[in-house]
Amino acid sequence: MTEKEIFIRKAIPGDIIRISEMESTIFHSPWSISSLEKELTASFSFFLVAETRDRDIIGYITAWNIHGEVQLNRIAVIDNNRRTGVGTILFNALLKECDPHHPEKILLEVRESNTSARSFYRTLGFIENGFRKNYYRDDNAVLLEYIPVKGQKM
Ligand SMILES: CC(C)(COP(=O)(O)OP(=O)(O)OC[C@H]1O[C@@H](n2cnc3c(N)ncnc32)[C@H](O)[C@@H]1OP(=O)(O)O)[C@@H](O)C(=O)NCCC(=O)NCCS
Repeated sequence: MTEKEIFIRKAIPGDIIRISEMESTIFHSPWSISSLEKELTASFSFFLVAETRDRDIIGYITAWNIHGEVQLNRIAVIDNNRRTGVGTILFNALLKECDPHHPEKILLEVRESNTSARSFYRTLGFIENGFRKNYYRDDNAVLLEYIPVKGQKM
């Protein structure tokens, strides 16, 4: 999919039920509706959704900007829209949104067993630079870092 076929915008309260459904389908530990709602209002939070022309939400990304470091908390695309570039478009939209805050780095942790996401992050330019044993109840965490290039065209 190209940037012309999907529309990226800030999440709004009316999106939360749909995002909560996606959370339950996609993640081992889905965020609650109240946690998702907090993401909408927190001053340090970025929360973007990807919509089709028919206004179907097919993906979202959430991150926190904390003292110049951006912590990427969630990125998800519905199963039948994966490998079509939506995740990359969401990540690029996050970079653009963060840009005025001049983040020094973007950090995240991912389950060691989540090889698809690790491959996705590597393709984006993240490097794996840490490991936390038993970080999750049933898995280890791999820590990743992305350094935005100054003046990067996004
Ligand atoms: C990770 C995720 C967001 C990627 O979204 P996506 O829209 O499929 O990603 P893109 O289509 O932009 O992929 C870009 C590139 O990343 C790599 N990539 C993405 N998914 C991959 C996979 N399953 N296996 C190998 N490489 C993959 C590829 O290089 C891909 O380019 P290509 O399709 O031309 O080969 C999606 O798989 C997802 O929602 N996973 C479940 C939720 C999750 O694990 N989130 C991350 C933890 S918070």
